[in-house]
Amino acid sequence: MQESAYVFEEIAELLSMSGAEKGGARNVTDEDLGIIRDALMVCRNGRIEWVGEKSKFKADQIRALGNHKTVSLGNATVLPGFVECHTHLVFAGNRSEEFEWRMQGQTYQEIAAKGGGILSTVRATREASAHELQRLAQARADRFARQGVTTLEVKSGYGLNLESERKILEVASRLSGPRIVKTYLGPHSRSPDHPDLSSYMNEILERDLPEIAKAKLADRVDIYIEKGFFDLESAHKFFTKARELGLPIAAHVEQLSDFGGTELAMQFEPLSVDHVVYVTEETIAKLSRSQTTAVLLPASDFYLKMKYPPAREMLDRGVRVALSTDFNPGTSPTQDLSLVGVLARVEMKMKLAEVLTAFTLGGAWALGRAHEVGSLTVGKFCDFSAFEGRWQDLFYSVGEHPVHSVYKGGEKIV
Ligand code: NIG
Ligand code: FE
Repeated sequence: MQESAYVFEEIAELLSMSGAEKGGARNVTDEDLGIIRDALMVCRNGRIEWVGEKSKFKADQIRALGNHKTVSLGNATVLPGFVECHTHLVFAGNRSEEFEWRMQGQTYQEIAAKGGGILSTVRATREASAHELQRLAQARADRFARQGVTTLEVKSGYGLNLESERKILEVASRLSGPRIVKTYLGPHSRSPDHPDLSSYMNEILERDLPEIAKAKLADRVDIYIEKGFFDLESAHKFFTKARELGLPIAAHVEQLSDFGGTELAMQFEPLSVDHVVYVTEETIAKLSRSQTTAVLLPASDFYLKMKYPPAREMLDRGVRVALSTDFNPGTSPTQDLSLVGVLARVEMKMKLAEVLTAFTLGGAWALGRAHEVGSLTVGKFCDFSAFEGRWQDLFYSVGEHPVHSVYKGGEKIV
């Protein structure tokens, strides 16, 4: 591999997130943002070698750098690349009509029960060629990158058989731009190829999951546990098999009702439990004592006109929290991180420091990547965005993305 060394300078403020990192991304305050004024950052072979105040970087350290390039960031504010930890990025078609039906009073579950919802996206996604899916997904990944996303989770789940799920995961593998984390979400809905949910689950357990693990098609697995979707018994079997195969676990839980999915998933030490809107106080207490990250997805609560998760209770109890768009054509047809952050502040009483942590270290923990992304400290990937203005201006104006450049592993991607 070719050696590369970069010195990034002219950084008005750099949010290292060092305090949040030390505290495991829990109970964060403004102090924990680890702000460095007039900063300098040295990256070698994609990793951070030194970061601190420019005045503390001595002449002999510069000489010891050897061959390097100096990059001026033009007095920008720098923050860790966002970790967008829950997206259903690869799909074809859209569900704009359903949105209108929902606004006229039909529920998400009613539409799903008559073959709309997830199954309508499955039809469009199965019909689309890999090439077409690639084009759609790449444009979406680029849209995330332009907002400062450097790590992007991508779920399958609109294939619902091994062949189509594989097609989706392979599209995800070929995406350029952010680092990609792939999640197998075969158990997203009943499958059109099976008479019922349990027959599809049997196929997942006996054939699909072992094949996903063997071919290393996914980094982690996910399931939708909800009334009308997968029940606790199926989920138990799925988690047991995933653990046996060494696949890390995430789960869609307590999105529409208090169904018990979080409690069940917690028995399997999941990386994340996602949605957690109808989570009880006892479960929150359990989460706070665990290493599991609660992934909050307020854009889908907004679009479904549902209540929001009890973020304040979780944060005050010391639960580690992440935020994400849940981008998908049904419940959250938006890629806008600024909307999610503003909803978190307006509707979920989250403080700005908590929002920033949730979009960086929180997401990194949710994906099992906190050792390499989510903060700008020595040894981590040199993944960051630079923007004009102060960090206090972030997640204030919906639709505004002040980012002017984005770097992954020290290389410019936007
Ligand atoms: O996270 N709830 C399940 N999955 C998605 C929605 C998928 C869809 O409606 O297409 C979610 O909200
Ligand atoms: Fe989702």
